[in-house]
Amino acid sequence: MNKLLIIGGTGLLGQYLVLEAYQRGFEVTATFHDNDAKLGTRSLVHLDVRDEAEVNEVVRSTSPEVVILAAGITDLDRCENNPQEAWAVNAEGAYNVTAACKSADIPMMYISTDAVFNGHKSERYYEFDTPDPLGIYAQTKLEGERLALDADHRNTVARVSLLYGWNRTSEKKNFVTWAIEEMRARRPVPLFTDRLTTPTYAPHCAQVLLKMLRGGSRGIYHVSGPDCMDRFEMGMAIAQEFGLEQSLCQRGSVNDADLAARRGRNLCLSSQKAESEFDLRMMHFRDGIKAMRSTEPGHEPDPDS
Ligand SMILES: NC(=O)c1ccc[n+]([C@@H]2O[C@H](COP(=O)([O-])OP(=O)(O)OC[C@H]3O[C@@H](n4cnc5c(N)ncnc54)[C@H](OP(=O)(O)O)[C@@H]3O)[C@@H](O)[C@H]2O)c1
Repeated sequence: MNKLLIIGGTGLLGQYLVLEAYQRGFEVTATFHDNDAKLGTRSLVHLDVRDEAEVNEVVRSTSPEVVILAAGITDLDRCENNPQEAWAVNAEGAYNVTAACKSADIPMMYISTDAVFNGHKSERYYEFDTPDPLGIYAQTKLEGERLALDADHRNTVARVSLLYGWNRTSEKKNFVTWAIEEMRARRPVPLFTDRLTTPTYAPHCAQVLLKMLRGGSRGIYHVSGPDCMDRFEMGMAIAQEFGLEQSLCQRGSVNDADLAARRGRNLCLSSQKAESEFDLRMMHFRDGIKAMRSTEPGHEPDPDS
């Protein structure tokens, strides 16, 4: 399984999937939608997953052996405020991709989310727990999961949780890059203490997903960092690692924020199944932000010094 089509190659996860896949010797085609970015010297192919004909044409012309669908509208509040767009991209788009893969008789990996759960559980979520999405984003992602799983028994659903890392294709921020920027500007950062997730370092997550693909994954897997943390704990760790003022981290509550989409209280995932089946260890948050500090764009160490 060496010929790979990555849909959403400009996204935070997608860009690292593309880079890691090249490094692992995959023959890669990657797609963009609005952001006509280059990854290194490599150009990407345009694809709108809502366009059934374009999806079929890209799958036909690139003839991959496996497809990763890492594209979508990932902003929960945008989805809540624009449900038609969210359903069109995240669910109908997933339908177009799963159908194209099925007719080409190739398996796919669908990237999903911890948000399919309602967050009421007091422990981590496992693959056998029952989803109960709280908002439009989560509903559309769960529909994508169902489509992928129903289309072909070889398909994989990989649920990730709060992705972080440097974004090398766009200015779009994630929680960690946003917190660093705010603290560097010496602005106080309100951080929820009542929302738990298992932050997942995007470059490492990409390595793991490719290892799973090569290892013959199928069915549902949770693929997240091992630390179940709230935003305040994450902010304090970021401040410490990046030498920023910890007093800028201020405890906040999701109830005080004016957000369109409801968020689950505890969305921590257990990645035990993926770790034991594929003999891997997910990366701790402290190690992820340490890796970010040593690879910050424009701050890489001088190789001659
Ligand atoms: N970010 C998180 O914390 C998080 C947490 C849990 C699960 N996930 C899941 O992980 C996956 C990757 O997330 P991410 O944060 O890496 O995403 P992202 O950075 O928001 O990137 C989204 C990608 O989707 C592409 N896209 C958007 N609309 C499209 C369309 N109509 N047709 C084709 N492509 C389209 C974008 O292309 P352009 O940029 O070129 O427009 C981009 O490549 C998603 O499935 C998401 O649901 C993410």
